[in-house]
Amino acid sequence: MSAGRFITIEGIEGVGKSTQVAVLARTLESRGVEVCVTREPGGTPLAERIRSLVLERGDEDLSPIAELLLMFAARAVHLGGSIEPALRAGRWVLCDRFTDATYAYQGGGRGLDPATIASLETWVQGTRRPDLTLLLDLPVARALERARRRGAGSDRFESQRLEFFERVRRVYLERAAREPGRIVVIDAAGTPDEVAAAVARAIGERGWTT
Ligand SMILES: Nc1ncnc2c1ncn2[C@@H]1O[C@H](COP(=O)(O)OP(=O)(O)OP(=O)(O)O)[C@@H](O)[C@H]1O
Ligand SMILES: [Mg+2]
Repeated sequence: MSAGRFITIEGIEGVGKSTQVAVLARTLESRGVEVCVTREPGGTPLAERIRSLVLERGDEDLSPIAELLLMFAARAVHLGGSIEPALRAGRWVLCDRFTDATYAYQGGGRGLDPATIASLETWVQGTRRPDLTLLLDLPVARALERARRRGAGSDRFESQRLEFFERVRRVYLERAAREPGRIVVIDAAGTPDEVAAAVARAIGERGWTT
């Protein structure tokens, strides 16, 4: 049995993450790879309940610290209940957002100290990190326009102002510059097929045998 691979897809709302996760899953499955498609926050029934707590707009404020801890609580549940077992079974895990999103949103967006996030990352994940992260990148206005056209209302993040997403995007790009071996920046401006081709190239360049 070949080793499972842990691939995460990142980027601000509307860049096309969910679209590309679905395409990539089909591509890999057609090559005989066993794929586990999942997302954060969420990915197991309990973690999806935590997702609702984080994303729904309620009457009571959720502080940035509480938001950060809920993200990692959901991640701990997700890793133990889904990601780690899938990787152990040799499956490839495609995860729509992961810890880079925490640095980008809770760090860049909300202004929490990245050192605090880093210590939670080590505590919750041990040495587990994605093997490859695909960062879909698009100017904020274009991404939000795609998200807006898709509709379905706005959650606690989608209702943020433009500056918030500029900070989120900046942190994503800074992380990609610092970890070029793991994070591949993909221009998300093209058609879905063009972006899918760039995603396939990024994976092909890894030389992973499937
Ligand atoms: N390359 C593309 N060109 C134009 N439209 C696209 C492209 N990729 C996706 N879309 C459309 O843009 C909208 C947002 O795409 P999608 O839901 O995949 O983004 P997302 O990154 O998952 O967003 P979110 O972070 O809000 O979940 C959808 O309506 C989708 O059909
Ligand atoms: Mg999505």
